[in-house]
Amino acid sequence: MAKNIKKQSQKFSTEQFLESINNHTITVGVIGLGYVGLPIAVEYAKLGISTIGFDIDNKKIDILQSGGNYIMDIDSTLVASVVAEKYLQPTTEFSRLAECDVIYICVPTPFTPNKDPDISYIIQSTEAVADSLRLGQLIILKSTTFPGTTTKYVQPILEKKGLIIGKDFFLAFSPERIDPGNTTWHTGNTPIVAGGVTKWCTTLACAAHGLIVSKVIPVSSPNVAEMEKLLENIFRSVNIALVNELAQLCDRIGVNIWEVVEAAGTKPFGFMPFFPGPGIGGHCILIDPYYLSWMAREYDFETNFITLAAEVNESMPFYVRSMIEREVARQPITLSTAKVLLLGMAFKRDVDDLRHSPALKVAELMIQDGIKNVKYFDPYIPTVQVHDKILKSEKSLTAETLKNYDIVVITTDHSCYDYEMIVKHSKVVIDTRNACKKVKGTKKNVVLLGSGS
Ligand SMILES: NC(=O)c1ccc[n+]([C@@H]2O[C@H](COP(=O)([O-])OP(=O)(O)OC[C@H]3O[C@@H](n4cnc5c(N)ncnc54)[C@H](O)[C@@H]3O)[C@@H](O)[C@H]2O)c1
Repeated sequence: MAKNIKKQSQKFSTEQFLESINNHTITVGVIGLGYVGLPIAVEYAKLGISTIGFDIDNKKIDILQSGGNYIMDIDSTLVASVVAEKYLQPTTEFSRLAECDVIYICVPTPFTPNKDPDISYIIQSTEAVADSLRLGQLIILKSTTFPGTTTKYVQPILEKKGLIIGKDFFLAFSPERIDPGNTTWHTGNTPIVAGGVTKWCTTLACAAHGLIVSKVIPVSSPNVAEMEKLLENIFRSVNIALVNELAQLCDRIGVNIWEVVEAAGTKPFGFMPFFPGPGIGGHCILIDPYYLSWMAREYDFETNFITLAAEVNESMPFYVRSMIEREVARQPITLSTAKVLLLGMAFKRDVDDLRHSPALKVAELMIQDGIKNVKYFDPYIPTVQVHDKILKSEKSLTAETLKNYDIVVITTDHSCYDYEMIVKHSKVVIDTRNACKKVKGTKKNVVLLGSGS
């Protein structure tokens, strides 16, 4: 076996590998065809590069194979055409990893119920890669994770076969920056960072990734790239927590936090506006900071900013609950008779992603508190499970629908909602996103989070 590897090793040249990347004569594999993986696979396939997409979810593979698409941000016609032309081959056959020269790992990195990192998906995918690892493969880990994952967990699994890293095969970490729902910044025009285990690993990762993004910034190690991604998300979490705390203070003192942030945002340097809301959700900002605080504990270090930010952000759905209950108390209704409509279940505007959505948490709290008549409307999310109940979205949002409710809560500010109509026909609107900002008139029935209204 070792002899065999040596023989093949003599035939393999890193320079030629680089050349084949630059000439587009590589085969790309993408493991995990979700919000991150599918756009990457489509970008390569779009260039006419042979791309194989791997997923354990048969449903996703079936949809793609039959010309469909399940990621809102990607052009469905494009997906269908790259699949029809076989530039993108979706499959559940992991033995086909052997065909790939460049392999991206884009699998989930959730946390456990105790909020510890769960890197089991990364481990499973790495084992699948290791099973068919051969000379001249470049593996790029994209899943967000704590520093040390690439070198301490992924690298040893890949090295088991005796291939030498940086010479026979290559490994890098390159964090993803995609922002679903963002119509300005997407895979193609967002610069990304890449850190390889060796210099060649970085060079090859930059070359391969550079084919589909505007700019790749090399860093000195996977650890730096892993930590860099966490810094990006912790930065957002801490700043959102800051305005969320100030929003609660502004409610007490009767100052409008939204106006305050906008005014501060006129400073041309040294300030970046962040806005309050009902809490944070999704697969990134809520989870990723915990990856670092977990790791820090191993070094007897407490990441106080992360903990405090999480505490404030996670308290926001509870704060929205208190706003709703205050409105119930003001009207001739009780918790058990109140009719509450939540507008938006997705964790943020214009996406269909429900993961860790604060709106879902608000719904859970409402039902837990005995509000029997909690409904929602979200054109992107037809059903949700809240405790043991399945809730169905209202079919449409009309004046008649709105009039049926005592309280309407804007939990997600989808741009397709008609806010004029919402304000006009609702008894009370609790606006947690400042979505009614552009609605003209006195808006006496609007209770805006963080405004003291
Ligand atoms: N969604 C985002 O906006 C975003 C942005 C930046 C970074 N990230 C990070 O990227 C990673 C992926 O996130 P996502 O949002 O794309 O997740 P996702 O859940 O949308 O997609 C992950 C896909 O991996 C598949 N999968 C799971 N285990 C697998 C395995 N062993 N082999 C093959 N496929 C497998 C799942 O079926 C799913 O289709 C996470 O680490 C996340 O933190 C996500």
